[in-house]
Amino acid sequence: MRKNIVAGNWKMNLGYEDGLSLFSEIVNMVKDEVVGNQEIVVCSPFIHLSSLSKLSNTVTNVHVGAQNMHQAESGAYTGEISGAQLKSVGVTHVILGHSERRAYFGETNALLAEKVNASLKHGLKPIFCIGETKEERESGEFFAVLKQQLQEGVFHLSEEEFKNVIIAYEPVWAIGTGLTASPEQAQEVHAYIREEIAKQYTQAIADDTSILYGGSANPGNAQSLFSQKDIDGGLIGGASLKSRDFIEIVKVFN
Ligand code: G3P
Repeated sequence: MRKNIVAGNWKMNLGYEDGLSLFSEIVNMVKDEVVGNQEIVVCSPFIHLSSLSKLSNTVTNVHVGAQNMHQAESGAYTGEISGAQLKSVGVTHVILGHSERRAYFGETNALLAEKVNASLKHGLKPIFCIGETKEERESGEFFAVLKQQLQEGVFHLSEEEFKNVIIAYEPVWAIGTGLTASPEQAQEVHAYIREEIAKQYTQAIADDTSILYGGSANPGNAQSLFSQKDIDGGLIGGASLKSRDFIEIVKVFN
């Protein structure tokens, strides 16, 4: 189901109390200032998830997501967290395939396909991240990179399964750099992603897929990005750590 979605990715930031304070600020601002039906997702570190999930029950359009999960059901995987465990604390979404996990933890498309399968098995909505590096962009090969990430990461899913997937396009060269993709650059890629989904499945499924942009999105550029035809929202890093900035981005969809 295509929705306008603004998801915050806190990454490895905020102690327990600071996370609760930030989330409480966001929830209060949503109650007072958000009037549209946009979906808001806050993806915090594991330590916050249970408490944030309980707090999110006080508003209808705020959800809590994780930033990763293990593909196994349970067992001897020291340090890992399963989809079932995330579900047990009220988590609804999970970021998978973020470029930082691909780069720092060697997550391959094949591994991510297993994680996507496990997330869907437990009724979680995967926010599946794809994106090219600076070198791949400059080489002109980036469409092929994105196509491979889709084909190997999520295009094995059935039509029914794929309907639960959210795609996030995050050009690696724009993440945390302050160097945002131009609205035209982002729209070109989002349109390409939607075309590839239509080829793999149907035009109806493609039109119904939420495709988010991530990479130095902020209150100053959100309007121009989100007004693009195929950009349905954002996956926000740095700006999600400041309640006022995050809410101003959310309010673009008011
Ligand atoms: O997952 C979102 C993140 O990668 C984008 O980070 O700080 O460029 O908004 P940032």
